[in-house]
Amino acid sequence: MTSATVLRCESCGNTYGDDLPNATCPNCDGLLLAEHAPPAIRGEELRSLFDSRRASGAAKHSGAASVAPAHERSGVWRFRELVLHAADDAIISHPEGNTPLIARPAISAYAGVDSLIVKHEGHNPTGSFKDRGMTVALTQARRVNARAVACASTGNTSASLSAYAAQAGIPSFVFVPAGQISAGKLAQTIAYGARVLPIDGDFDDCLRLAREASTLGIYLVNSVNPFRLEGQKTIVFELLQQLGWQPPDWIALPAGNLGNTSAFGKALREARALGLIDRVPRLLAVQAAGAAPFAKAFAEGFVTRHRVRAETRATAIRIGDPASWDRAITAIRETEGHVVAVSDEEIFAAKAVIDHAGVGCEPASAASIAGVRKLAASGEIGRNERVAAVLTGHLLKDPGAPTESQLPAPLSYGAAMDILRRAT
Ligand code: F0G
Repeated sequence: MTSATVLRCESCGNTYGDDLPNATCPNCDGLLLAEHAPPAIRGEELRSLFDSRRASGAAKHSGAASVAPAHERSGVWRFRELVLHAADDAIISHPEGNTPLIARPAISAYAGVDSLIVKHEGHNPTGSFKDRGMTVALTQARRVNARAVACASTGNTSASLSAYAAQAGIPSFVFVPAGQISAGKLAQTIAYGARVLPIDGDFDDCLRLAREASTLGIYLVNSVNPFRLEGQKTIVFELLQQLGWQPPDWIALPAGNLGNTSAFGKALREARALGLIDRVPRLLAVQAAGAAPFAKAFAEGFVTRHRVRAETRATAIRIGDPASWDRAITAIRETEGHVVAVSDEEIFAAKAVIDHAGVGCEPASAASIAGVRKLAASGEIGRNERVAAVLTGHLLKDPGAPTESQLPAPLSYGAAMDILRRAT
């Protein structure tokens, strides 16, 4: 029997079935891409199928008497024909996805476009978009009987891995750059039960180590794992569905290791090929200026692969040697996309606007809005174009140390009342 999903190596071209116990090519360690047998239906029929699942998942969710299984309520598994053909009882799901679209005049005005919506992936179970990839990666880990799972992380992947591995009952290990992970993300990772190995090095060192660990038979669930990308594609599918399958002109996202940029490109390619949409939005990948090898390469026409020693206060995207380089180039080329770098000052200015609008996000996420603002100012994005920007992580992921410097010294009852009287 041929399997419904084939894994194809992007370097040597070898193909494997979807029961492969390795996350990368066993022949050359190249990156694998999942290719699914196309669904029997397409276009309007496929849209209707996905829309009916969304409606029934929501309906069952609201009825206390009959709560549907998690995978039926998941914003990832709703698109299962395009994600992974797994038996229902094999699926490890929280559920995840179903994240909101939010429009705020203050954020659009700051970005400099009339029509801007944000898709807030911080509303996922562990507070970042990583849960969409992790539900698929851990489902796959269980399908291939992995005895342990591992990842390198700037914090969000590790928190997500730890939670989903706990649910799957598989031991998990994470490599993090020592002293460079926000307290919130580290707390989550430890609390859910992963074994944390702080490494004297940066994220890129950690990823090299994680790839080496996979030679010990530990299943690697970084975004080099093809199933992570399959799950993360659903950010785009769900966004398109929420917009009534009317694509925006641009989709902006922060970019670090380039897994998400690659996943977005693959999602748009498939959505177009299956007739879910009739035109492809342009991708805007935004890097922090101190960690911007991809933006530099874009400006030069992608002739050179750059590696840098990364430095930015947006620690989630503090990555100097992105793993999904080639597939992200494909994503940018196929969508006539753009890559831009923004300074930490621009990131934190955008974050302040997002926060004060009552939406909030972690620093790396604000890069997407800072990037839109930059391209709107240069005229690359027209004021009338419709822009969707992805906020990748929750405000509480990395609140910094806001409180002490922003609060007055402890107040007496009378002094607090005085402040209120003067302020109102
Ligand atoms: N935004 C946030 C909040 C992230 O945590 C990450 C990546 C990105 C954007 C960039 O996505 O790597 O696919 O280009 N965080 C990874 C981690 C590296 O370990 O949590 P990317």
